[in-house]
Amino acid sequence: MPLPRKNQKQIAQKYAENRGYFRRLHSFRQARRLVALVCVMISVAVAWFYLHNGRSSPRLEAFSSSGEISQAHSQFAKDCRQCHDPVEKLDLLKPAVASASIDANCENCHTRHTFHQADVVVDHSCTACHHEHLGPGPMQPVADRNCAACHGDADIMAASAQKGRHLPATDFQVKFRDNLLVAFQPPRPPLGYTQVFQSFEGDHPAFQIQAEHLTDPNTLKFDHKIHLSGDIPEVEGRKLDCAYCHKPDSRGAYMQPISFAKNCQACHALQIDPTLSDFQIPHPTAGSSANSVRDFLLTLPTQYATYAAEKKGLTSSAQIAAFVNRHMLVIRRRVRQGADLEKEVFYADDRNIDLGGVSSMPMRERALFPGCAYCHEVRTSAAQTPVVTKPITPDRWYVHARFDHSAHITMTCESCHAPVKGSPLYSATSPNVLQSEKTSDINLPDKASCVICHSAQGGVVSTCATCHDYHNPAPVRDLAGISVPRQTAPGEK
Ligand code: HEC
Ligand code: HEC
Ligand code: HEC
Ligand code: HEC
Ligand code: HEC
Ligand code: HEC
Ligand code: HEC
Ligand code: HEC
Ligand code: HEC
Ligand code: HEC
Repeated sequence: MPLPRKNQKQIAQKYAENRGYFRRLHSFRQARRLVALVCVMISVAVAWFYLHNGRSSPRLEAFSSSGEISQAHSQFAKDCRQCHDPVEKLDLLKPAVASASIDANCENCHTRHTFHQADVVVDHSCTACHHEHLGPGPMQPVADRNCAACHGDADIMAASAQKGRHLPATDFQVKFRDNLLVAFQPPRPPLGYTQVFQSFEGDHPAFQIQAEHLTDPNTLKFDHKIHLSGDIPEVEGRKLDCAYCHKPDSRGAYMQPISFAKNCQACHALQIDPTLSDFQIPHPTAGSSANSVRDFLLTLPTQYATYAAEKKGLTSSAQIAAFVNRHMLVIRRRVRQGADLEKEVFYADDRNIDLGGVSSMPMRERALFPGCAYCHEVRTSAAQTPVVTKPITPDRWYVHARFDHSAHITMTCESCHAPVKGSPLYSATSPNVLQSEKTSDINLPDKASCVICHSAQGGVVSTCATCHDYHNPAPVRDLAGISVPRQTAPGEK
């Protein structure tokens, strides 16, 4: 049986004290309305900010910016438009800033940062590696996971290797801007540098120079072992140690190029006349060729005459002529039967020569200088003249990485370049410059000797960015930040 229904009157009595009941909402519905109202108010407020304050208003910034801009960008921290595109029309569905176009805006100011390697398959956004709004200090260092995003991903690296195969080798070759520095040129591996790895101390590849036993093609003849054996007497009161020949550049990061005048001449003077120690062939300087030496030899009598006047103070022409004749005879006696002076000077490379001034033995008939071929590769041109192959000594060896000697100043040179057995830096592929007899040896420390310190156990920073530039793509590497231009020796033009 149905419940007896209340009649109209009974109902009316129930609400007698409460006539406006129908205008009242259930508490849930009430809350819904309130939320809607607040939303509308916020929207109006946002619209008001947009319409009345413009995009660069400080009030909008306070309202929507996520944090303070870094020191590097502080000068335009208030000018959001430098990095974010303005939202053209008021659209409440879109965020106040459009982040998709940030990269293009970064590149308005930072040109040449776009690419890393020619065979990169998916561009990595600037903002993945460089974060803003994290406070007023310097920007945060780039985290290794950003490098591992590609270098640790087998698919990405395989795709890059594939793409790289169809690109010209010159897209990857490392050269330095303005040819101020010479880069060692390791052969490009068939798949490029696309090995997959996660960390430096772990599976980072062994350095190519050691892994592939690369050699230095420089034609300059030089034997570290002989020079460092300790047998060589002091020159000008100085012991022959690394620092005699290798001087740090102005930043202390790399070593300056070797110079004949500064590093060899004191012992290997180009003295052709055994009786005159300061009458020397001028060694060609940067840019000049062996022809300057040929010219000198062809005009030898004139050179002697000038010497007689300037160095010996002879004034009468008879005296000068006598001086020239006397010394031309000395020179003729030096030249072997059947040879001419030019050939003697260029091609002779007698290793048993007495380096008189250096050793304590008395100066003999023969001059100190054996011939250009003692140090150089000398070939014969089509015109039958001798040509000295220009020696090319690389200024940078690990051209895919960065190094700084000054950060390692507390270590001895030998600890890296000739670690002894038992040293923590010693391993099977360690160099030993003290035992190196050939120029072709590349006496550089291997990966194991870096890991000793640059690892979690070693406790020294070992992020990828410690040793690598990201924005320094081949073919032309910028010098900025990684080196200083090659310095010219005094007297060089
Ligand atoms: C130097 C460039 C730069 C300037 C100037 C700048 N931003 Fe940003 N902003 C960024 C970058 C980069 C991001 C991406 C987040 C990150 O860095 O991780 C970002 C993210 C944001 C976000 C987060 C929204 C999103 O899409 O991720 C807001 C909001 C924002 N910026 C607002 C502002 C406002 C407002 C201003 C002006 C006061 C401003 N920004 C100025 C670089 C800048
Ligand atoms: C209006 C020009 C401009 C824009 C846009 C700009 N930058 Fe910069 N950026 C600078 C200037 C100027 C410096 C400081 C350079 C210096 O100190 O030598 C700088 C420095 C940097 C540095 C070095 C920071 C440091 O702490 O040494 C990084 C990284 C950088 N910007 C990344 C970015 C990124 C990423 C973007 C885009 C979100 C961006 N920049 C947008 C002008 C700009
Ligand atoms: C995969 C990570 C990565 C990406 C993506 C990236 N950078 Fe960098 N960026 C670096 C590293 C690493 C450095 C070197 C920082 C250091 O010196 O330790 C750097 C340095 C910089 C510097 C300061 C030094 C210099 O070379 O002048 C600027 C400016 C810069 N990046 C801008 C950009 C811009 C603009 C983009 C986007 C087009 C971008 N970066 C994308 C990793 C990255
Ligand atoms: C978008 C993908 C990608 C990211 C991110 C990336 N790399 Fe690479 N990188 C490559 C590819 C692809 C190659 C191989 C180039 C080749 O074929 O020789 C490469 C090569 C290199 C090389 C060796 C070749 C050379 O010329 O120097 C170094 C070093 C390197 N990357 C360092 C870094 C560092 C450091 C980072 C992080 C700051 C980084 N990479 C982030 C894709 C990437
Ligand atoms: C008498 C001068 C002289 C002295 C002393 C000398 N070097 Fe050298 N060094 C050279 C010349 C010249 C070259 C370039 C020719 C070559 O590659 O062998 C060179 C090249 C190098 C290189 C480049 C890579 C290589 O092996 O070719 C390294 C590293 C090096 N020397 C380290 C040292 C260290 C460490 C010492 C001290 C233990 C030292 N050198 C002492 C003249 C010298
Ligand atoms: C302190 C004096 C001194 C300096 C400086 C010096 N050398 Fe020597 N060099 C010698 C002596 C002494 C010998 C002979 C050693 C021997 O035959 O036992 C020699 C030998 C050589 C040899 C012949 C080695 C061999 O294979 O028999 C060459 C090549 C050479 N030096 C090149 C150079 C070059 C290049 C420089 C400058 C980078 C240089 N030297 C600097 C003293 C020096
Ligand atoms: C004791 C070793 C030695 C002897 C002997 C020697 N040179 Fe050199 N030569 C060097 C060294 C080291 C360099 C590279 C450094 C420099 O240019 O100062 C060089 C560089 C050169 C260059 C290249 C200059 C440039 O950079 O463009 C020429 C050309 C040259 N020598 C010619 C000669 C001739 C010709 C002779 C004989 C008259 C000679 N050299 C004798 C050691 C020697
Ligand atoms: C922490 C290990 C370490 C120590 C210590 C060290 N070197 Fe090096 N050296 C290197 C590395 C790595 C390179 C390769 C740099 C490059 O890419 O050209 C190098 C390169 C060189 C070169 C070739 C030219 C150049 O600058 O690249 C010479 C010469 C040299 N070192 C001499 C010295 C001398 C002299 C000392 C002592 C004052 C010394 N090194 C101490 C690691 C070291
Ligand atoms: C005995 C410990 C030790 C060894 C071995 C060592 N390093 Fe370092 N390295 C350091 C220290 C300490 C610093 C300074 C770190 C800092 O500034 O926080 C440093 C800094 C660096 C830097 C950064 C320089 C800069 O300021 O930009 C590079 C690049 C570097 N080392 C490369 C190498 C390489 C490559 C090797 C191996 C050939 C190597 N190191 C071996 C201790 C070592
Ligand atoms: C302590 C210094 C150091 C650190 C840290 C370091 N590298 Fe290297 N890396 C080197 C040197 C040195 C080479 C040899 C460069 C050359 O041969 O020109 C190299 C070579 C490479 C190569 C070329 C590999 C090849 O086959 O020759 C790549 C790619 C590379 N590094 C990426 C990275 C990445 C990504 C990280 C971070 C996980 C990293 N490196 C950390 C010093 C370092």
